[in-house]
Formats: sequence, C-alpha cells, structure tokens
Amino acid sequence: DPEMVEDGQKVFKKCAACHKVGEGAKNGTGPHLNGALGRAAGSLDGFKYSKAMTDAGAGGLVWDEASLMSFLENPKGFLKGTKMSFAGLKKEDDRAAIVAYLSTLAP
Ligand code: HEM
Repeated sequence: DPEMVEDGQKVFKKCAACHKVGEGAKNGTGPHLNGALGRAAGSLDGFKYSKAMTDAGAGGLVWDEASLMSFLENPKGFLKGTKMSFAGLKKEDDRAAIVAYLSTLAP
C-alpha cells in the first residue's frame, strides 16, 4: 500500500537520528536498516550489537512483521538488555506504517 509506505517514511523521522537507510547507508548509533525485514536480529557485519541482540538472533529471532511490531512498541520490554534507547511507538498504525516502509528497503 503506497500510502502506508509514505506514512512510514514520515514516522521514520523518529528513527533517522540513529538509523540510516538507502543507497550507501552506513551504520551509526544504530545499524543501517536496509534489508532489515527477513534478516536475523543482530546479524549485520560491522555493527557492535548488545549481547541481548546477538543472542536473540542466534536463538532464532528474525525480523518479520510480527517481531518488528512487538519490538517497536516497547524495545526494552520485548528484548531485555537491548541498547536501542527508544521509548517505542505506541500507535499501532505508526508501527504498521514503519514495517511497510522498511519492507521496501532492499538489502
Ligand atoms: C536496533 C529499528 C529508533 C538505536 C534496531 C533494529 C531495528 C531497529 C529493526 C534491529 C536491527 C538489527 O537486528 O540489525 C528502529 C526503528 C526506529 C528505531 C524502526 C524508530 C521507530 C532508534 C533510535 C535509536 C536507535 C531513536 C537511538 C537513540 C538502535 C541501536 C540498535 C538498534 C543502538 C542496536 C540495539 C542492540 O544491539 O541491542 N533498531 N529503531 N533506534 N537501534 Fe533502532
């Protein structure tokens, strides 16, 4: 849904201080998010994740619609020990829009 993707792009402003996306995106405070959908959590080369995040990925956590909706609602509640310092997106519509947007970003 193109409108949802557009909404997601707007909501992404809340993430952009820490996460880069698009061609040539580099890791910063947070890992770049190209291709995040479908990737194992904590698996990007060259980014220093928390142990909580790499353990979760090694344990089988993959970023898909369901896991992202939960993580983004309450990051530290979903993944105890994550170093993502973000309060979360309380509105379900905002989370769904972000997921739609992220799904357009190729690895
Ligand atoms: C990790 C998304 C906001 C800092 C992640 C991951 C995702 C994500 C999907 C896991 C990536 C992976 O496993 O490779 C988002 C979205 C945001 C947001 C959609 C906005 C709604 C922020 C903000 C910050 C931040 C504002 C900085 C203040 C980080 C850090 C990690 C991370 C440091 C690594 C966490 C760890 O290793 O435990 N984020 N994020 N994020 N994010 Fe965010």
